[in-house]
Amino acid sequence: MKITLVAGSNRKHATSTKLSRYIEQQLVSNGHEVAFFDLYEKPIPFYSPDTSLNTDLHLIELKAIMLQSHAIILSTPDYHGSISGVLKNALDHLGFAHFDSKVVLSVSSAGGLVGMSSLTQLQTIIRNVHGINCPEWISIGSGQHGFTEDGAPEQLKVKERVHTTLQYFLRMAAKLA
Ligand SMILES: Cc1cc2nc3c(=O)[nH]c(=O)nc-3n(C[C@H](O)[C@H](O)[C@H](O)COP(=O)(O)O)c2cc1C
Repeated sequence: MKITLVAGSNRKHATSTKLSRYIEQQLVSNGHEVAFFDLYEKPIPFYSPDTSLNTDLHLIELKAIMLQSHAIILSTPDYHGSISGVLKNALDHLGFAHFDSKVVLSVSSAGGLVGMSSLTQLQTIIRNVHGINCPEWISIGSGQHGFTEDGAPEQLKVKERVHTTLQYFLRMAAKLA
């Protein structure tokens, strides 16, 4: 299955991006094709309804991999109980054509115990672009931000959460793909 993963942090060593890279590793080792788009490495210009940005190379790439995907994963840091500005901006450039009838998994990293509010806000946006929210989701909070040199979460609990959630997400995505 072709899966697009958008890492929604604007921070170089973001834990949400490290978690996304670990998710990518797991998917690739299970034979899936992953298109990874990191909004820190590939910034997207501000969306404006007045401006056409058809020549922006990052935006062209993002739109192409979103269109080609069978399923989508979006990750975000929890900012003020919501998603990051860079992820919201990227999503404003996208719409039904990129999300309709595709299963979407939400992932967040929070400074508190868990990023429930950012996950529910992300799911509201996904519903409004006609994506199908995966009921299982992943949030890491304070005390769960450690990753080993090979990119795995230090905590077994986080690894287990990723594995069980990905199994659920992939089963659901395969039915709809
Ligand atoms: C502007 C801003 C707002 C934040 N708001 C929250 C918040 O409302 N709740 C929370 O648990 N953590 C909050 N945090 C902490 C981040 O969620 C936390 O540092 C998280 O690990 C960032 O993810 P990252 O490592 O992917 O950048 C905030 C951080 C920033 C910079």
